[in-house]
Amino acid sequence: MTSAEIREAYLSYFESKGHTRVASSSLVPANDPTLLFTNAGMNQFKDCFLGLEKRDYTRATTSQKCVRAGGKHNDLDNVGYTARHHTFFEMLGNFSFGDYFKHDALKFAWEFLTSEQWLGLPKDKLYVTVYHTDDEAYDIWNKDIGLAPERIIRIGDNKGEKYASDNFWAMGDTGPCGPCSEIFFDHGDHIWGGLPGTPEEDGDRFIEIWNNVFMQFNRTADGVLHPLPAPSVDTGMGLERISAVLQHVNSNYEIDLFQHLLKAASEIIGVDTTTIESEAKTADKPVDYPASLKVVADHARSCCFLIADGVNPSNEGRGYVLRRIIRRAVRHGNKMGATGTFFYKMLQPLIEAMGEAYPELAERRAVIESTLIREEELFAKTLEQGLKLLEGELANLKGKVIPGATVFKLYDTYGFPTDLTADIARERELEIDEAGFEKEMAAQRQRARDAGKFAVDYNSIVKVDGETQFNGYDATIGQGQIIAIYKDGVQVEEVTEGDEALIVLNQTPFYAESGGQIGDTGLFKNDTGIFEVQDTKKSGGAFVHQGIVTMGSLKASQNVEAIVKADIREATSRNHSATHLLHAALRQVLGEHVQQKGSLVASDILRFDFANDQPVSFEQLQQVERIVNAEIIANTPVETELLNIDAAKEKGAMMLFGEKYGDEVRVLSMGSIKDERNFSIELCGGIHIKRTGDIGLFKITSEGGVAAGVRRIEAVTGTKALEAVQKADSEINYINGLLKAQKDQTVEKVEATVEAAHQLQKQIEQLNQKLANFLASDLISQVKDIAGRQTLIATVQGQDAKSLRHLHDSVKSKLDNAVIVLAGVDSDKVSLIASIAKDFTANIKAGDIIKHLSQELGGKGGGKPDLAQGGAPLNEKFDQVMAALPAWLEQK
Ligand code: ALA
Repeated sequence: MTSAEIREAYLSYFESKGHTRVASSSLVPANDPTLLFTNAGMNQFKDCFLGLEKRDYTRATTSQKCVRAGGKHNDLDNVGYTARHHTFFEMLGNFSFGDYFKHDALKFAWEFLTSEQWLGLPKDKLYVTVYHTDDEAYDIWNKDIGLAPERIIRIGDNKGEKYASDNFWAMGDTGPCGPCSEIFFDHGDHIWGGLPGTPEEDGDRFIEIWNNVFMQFNRTADGVLHPLPAPSVDTGMGLERISAVLQHVNSNYEIDLFQHLLKAASEIIGVDTTTIESEAKTADKPVDYPASLKVVADHARSCCFLIADGVNPSNEGRGYVLRRIIRRAVRHGNKMGATGTFFYKMLQPLIEAMGEAYPELAERRAVIESTLIREEELFAKTLEQGLKLLEGELANLKGKVIPGATVFKLYDTYGFPTDLTADIARERELEIDEAGFEKEMAAQRQRARDAGKFAVDYNSIVKVDGETQFNGYDATIGQGQIIAIYKDGVQVEEVTEGDEALIVLNQTPFYAESGGQIGDTGLFKNDTGIFEVQDTKKSGGAFVHQGIVTMGSLKASQNVEAIVKADIREATSRNHSATHLLHAALRQVLGEHVQQKGSLVASDILRFDFANDQPVSFEQLQQVERIVNAEIIANTPVETELLNIDAAKEKGAMMLFGEKYGDEVRVLSMGSIKDERNFSIELCGGIHIKRTGDIGLFKITSEGGVAAGVRRIEAVTGTKALEAVQKADSEINYINGLLKAQKDQTVEKVEATVEAAHQLQKQIEQLNQKLANFLASDLISQVKDIAGRQTLIATVQGQDAKSLRHLHDSVKSKLDNAVIVLAGVDSDKVSLIASIAKDFTANIKAGDIIKHLSQELGGKGGGKPDLAQGGAPLNEKFDQVMAALPAWLEQK
């Protein structure tokens, strides 16, 4: 039977058992964010199992397109190296939504497989497994169907956790799941392998062909299994595997469908297959093609189907997985000798083999081919650069492990997926240092977090002749032509949705970061796509727009409409003009020595660093604010002129020491005119407001030192200034609430409160003194004779080091010829003090007592022979240590 005939037989059989034939769903799961790709027949019925959706049938049968690459079920790395792993495969399935359960499911499967009317497989070639506690399934196989016990294998939990078993199936980390019963086919003892559950189970002799899942639970994100509203059935049989069985071959790559694709791949790539073909003919067997061709044939299926279902190669999510599969296929093709683009040519033989069952392949031919061609071209560039680097590293490699740093560089700079590097390593019998790679990745993520979006060194990437013309002084919208696109550090012709890129235009209204002013943000758009500009920087004469394609695609040479985010631009301009006014005002208030040392002009804040030895006083800051705001209120026009440098000097423009200026400079004049000179005249290429009044309001938010002789002022303008004033107001309002003060009484009330607190503090100290005296008298009654010395050992609660010292002093004033040891316990700390009358210090020293105690208690302390102090954490040893002290003193 051909695979097409088997597919049809399966669907017809289940139709004859009352099932509705339902079309395969898309490989991109509809409304299911938990799933990367459709990976099982049951995906499209997930909500039916959960009881969330009702259909007009309770039995269904499908042949479902599935991709298992990435996510919970990922077979990518095995493809090409085993007889039965695929990225793409078709799953035949029958489903019951609260209709039949275990009994019918197993009977249907058995009948379809063994009945002469259907597949007619010999019963003695079949084995089954059940979940170890599933006696019901066991009995159905054994008693109802008549399988001998040696053909029914119970499989338990293999990872030490309940339900972590090959016989418990789950769609993903969450969703419907349940125990299952698998059916195995014995390909014969000439093939190595053992029954499920034996150490040889991974061999190719006993192959699982059909999985019958008894859906019973819904697993939620917290790991809890909730019973489903009605027990259901989900089964899956890989079409490729059952075809191998029926076509009497041992590998899926030997079935009709794959033989067709493999032959086509060998022709497209130009592999000479005469020898293997004649060997196969002599042995009367299918051709055993090289592993790399198997990879190409397998990957052609997943890639063409994924693109047909709308997935686009990109750097994240589904698009990234597709990109990895394409790149893996292309590299295996290259290994077999392919030159130029070739992979897209696999679509034609695929349509021949599967086009009838899946008409979307032919319908979407143009997009599948063009997407593959574009991706292959892009990869060719990446590969060339990356392989050169890798060859260089391998030539110098000592040992058998490719360092993580190299793997990371290939990945980071050349877009080389790590599985590709691992593949190359495997071919040369090398390994890659995965832990090292992960470490580099973690460091990279940290760097990216630290540097924010400014992590890219544009100058090392962007190589453009000519200059971008800047049209943005008076406009925020303009037309431009794309003259270069860069992605992942290399120049590309096109970028598509999800791609992060750098784009250079011939002309742009976007201001590129310079002179302290940040780069503009906004978007480019045209008929084919939208690019969100997140930052703009200069690289030589080119303006580089950094951002991400948010819709469609953009190509080199296309025209785009470039739209700057006008509100952000306006806020930034306000801050820039205010910085000029601030500079001039500081010179007026502090003196002509005030020189700009640095500045940042963003949309929400301005920062100005300048030379000044002293902190700027509060009054001076207020004066500066008054001057700047007076200029704002005067609302004079801001003027720009292009002058030669001498004329600019003549005009009195402030120039930065050490800065290089061209012959022609842009001079910004703003503010009131006095003695025929504007309040502020500066050379500046930045963007400014039209009149000073546009700034609205100027408010300094902080002043501080940044280096010796350099101060920094931060300030806000416009609505941010209003916010700052309102915030200060709210704080006062809150304080008034606490103080129960009227609006104008804040100062008065705060002063009174502070004074009252002061008085209270004094009273507390006096009371403490009295308390200490009282305590001291009490303690004196506890004096004992130890080794002929008057000795007081006492523990007092709630005493910190300072109050313990006071207490000690009052005790000592009443007890002058004695040994005194006090421990004060205050929450989790112990303070210690000891003093010894001069007469006794020959035999015993206060320092020794404190050293002894603090050592025992795990703390620190010491001092003079007559007085010492210490401290330790309070722990469970404390009482015992204190109780043992008299005995210790006895010895001295
Ligand atoms: N959903 C089950 C599987 O994929 C049938 O094995």
